[in-house]
Amino acid sequence: MGLIFLIGFMGSGKSTVSGYLQQYSDYTKIEMDEEIEEKEHMKIREIFKGKGEEYFRNLETEYLLQISKTDENYVVSCGGGVAMKEENVRIMKSCGRVVWLDALPGTIYERVKDSHHRPLLEGHWNVSYIQGLMDKRRNQYESAADICIQTDYQTPEEICKKLLEEITQE
Ligand code: S3P
Repeated sequence: MGLIFLIGFMGSGKSTVSGYLQQYSDYTKIEMDEEIEEKEHMKIREIFKGKGEEYFRNLETEYLLQISKTDENYVVSCGGGVAMKEENVRIMKSCGRVVWLDALPGTIYERVKDSHHRPLLEGHWNVSYIQGLMDKRRNQYESAADICIQTDYQTPEEICKKLLEEITQE
């Protein structure tokens, strides 16, 4: 047991899968974006707009440092940009296992197209923009991950089952 960090692009299923893990195992779900919003008393898009992306990125690192000290069993659904920073990857690897949920750009588009709380996608609602940003991030997700699960055409239950199998095999 311990900590599991779910990483991956926006819409890769981190929140949904962490909810199922909470239901089917002894891990308690933590939604990192929500923790940050609570601490700042602001929505993510307001933080980006009012204080800037760098400020938000520092809050992510601060949060990881804080959670790394716990003895509890948590599955942390990380924001999609968390694995882009080397320091964050180092913290996650030092205290838990990192699971990358991957998906095709078309799948991501279908999952995020009706939501409007993601500042990085505002004004870019198309598959090719998503593909471009995913391509830029792919290497970092890959090198951060201990385990990778392809989520296209799978139900959250199937993904959750696979994740638990892989975690126990490690
Ligand atoms: C971000 C992903 C978002 C949120 C913020 C930035 C990113 O989280 O942290 O909008 O850089 O990919 P989700 O992956 O949960 O949408």
